[in-house]
Amino acid sequence: MQTLPSPHSAEATSSPSFQIDDWRSGYRSQPEEYAYWIDDIEGEIPTALEGTLFRNGPGLLDIGGHPIRHPFDGDGMISSIAFKDGKAYYRNRFVRTEGYVAEQEAGKPLYRGVFGTQKIGGLWANMFDLRLKNIANTHIIYWGHKLLALWEAAEPHRLDPETLETIGLDYLDGLLQPGDAFAAHPKIDPGNPDQGQEPRLVNFSIKTGLSSTITIHEFDISGNCVKSYHRSVPGFAFMHDFVVTPNYVVFFQNPVSFNPFPFVLGMKGAGECIQLNPKAATKIIVIPRNGETPVQFIDAPAGFVFHHANAFEQAGKVFVDSIVYQGFPTLDEGTTYQDVDFSKVPEGQLWRFTLDLDTEAVDDASCLISRCCEFPTLHPQQVGQPYRYLYIGAAHRPSGNAPLQALLKKDFETGEEHVWSEAPRGFMGEPIFVPRPDGTVEDDGWVLCLTYNAARQCSDLIILDAKNIQNGPIARLKLKHHVPYGLHGSFTSTYFGPTAA
Ligand code: CO
Repeated sequence: MQTLPSPHSAEATSSPSFQIDDWRSGYRSQPEEYAYWIDDIEGEIPTALEGTLFRNGPGLLDIGGHPIRHPFDGDGMISSIAFKDGKAYYRNRFVRTEGYVAEQEAGKPLYRGVFGTQKIGGLWANMFDLRLKNIANTHIIYWGHKLLALWEAAEPHRLDPETLETIGLDYLDGLLQPGDAFAAHPKIDPGNPDQGQEPRLVNFSIKTGLSSTITIHEFDISGNCVKSYHRSVPGFAFMHDFVVTPNYVVFFQNPVSFNPFPFVLGMKGAGECIQLNPKAATKIIVIPRNGETPVQFIDAPAGFVFHHANAFEQAGKVFVDSIVYQGFPTLDEGTTYQDVDFSKVPEGQLWRFTLDLDTEAVDDASCLISRCCEFPTLHPQQVGQPYRYLYIGAAHRPSGNAPLQALLKKDFETGEEHVWSEAPRGFMGEPIFVPRPDGTVEDDGWVLCLTYNAARQCSDLIILDAKNIQNGPIARLKLKHHVPYGLHGSFTSTYFGPTAA
């Protein structure tokens, strides 16, 4: 099987757009929990922006002074920023998972992390300890009147949307059993109001081993599960994300193998036992949402995908836009994430795969954004639909791997790219597109992004006009502290801040 050709014409030769110590300083533990009105603001918060931004990510990079091996092993900490009448209220709290509470009390790691964090005591303390610590650190969604912190290998934690206090594990009204997985990348199918279709939250869970079972759940706007169906797929499956269209859910089964022995023997985390096989094909798994028609498997060029941007059906084909890495990023023996040499790690690039379901083949695979990019977002009404605009975190320079420092807006109709960069001392998190309530066109809205400002050693929430991102933020809300680099978040139009300033 061929591999995807590199779209680079030349390697980056210019000096880096950042200092490595600046980048590292965004990975400091934030043990404090805050709640305050944001009063240090450049520009103005649009008064039409009303609702709450929730965001999840590792809040601690150490446990009692013992560094964790990878940020993906860090305890989930939720930030919320509630907007109303041109004002904004910030709050953060750790998810009180069983592991977080026990380890904070003990002052040391009591669990092994999936990405290599080990208990104190070396091999003998870690061998055959296969317990997972549900760290609730990947995503957070508000759906069906529930705020849920997600981590893909275990049950969601339910939180109070106003105080962010942890209510407990949530079994989705009996849908999940203790220990069941629930993925961290739910998609909201906006439905088609003209056909009387309401929005649905669609998510999956996976059980994997020598073969794998994917279970898909669909929830109505009240949070009731209205449909569950499962399909078996051959082989080990590492799948973090998926896409939804009106008729299909689509997964990419990365060509990876899993050797459990170093994990079982206590030498490595489970996530460190995954290897990409560049000679094998990526299997694209197309599952009809009617729950009846058979699954289709389509071979695609090898590559590694964590995240998809979107998918849509058009002219009898299915188009899937995904961020593809030419290799699976791993850490060398004896090094930590802080030592990463960006030039030696493959960057993510946005590719569009055209699937012909009649011939069960990939008709075309084209690179649409060659600049290093991650964390895509788009207008929520375009999810699963043909769309014109994508917003995505990107590197400052057009080629080569580097931390995300910029926001890129792609216009698929004209091919144009507009970029706003926070370099040299700013670092970009996941952007979130929020539509203007009375907006009429696809880019009528704002892009919200929590950034890290190494000059202040603090984080900023920036708000950009989605029509003119190249002009920079229309408001910069300066937090009083830093929030470590995080993962995913979401916006709800419900305001969960205090009643009065
Ligand atoms: Co993710």
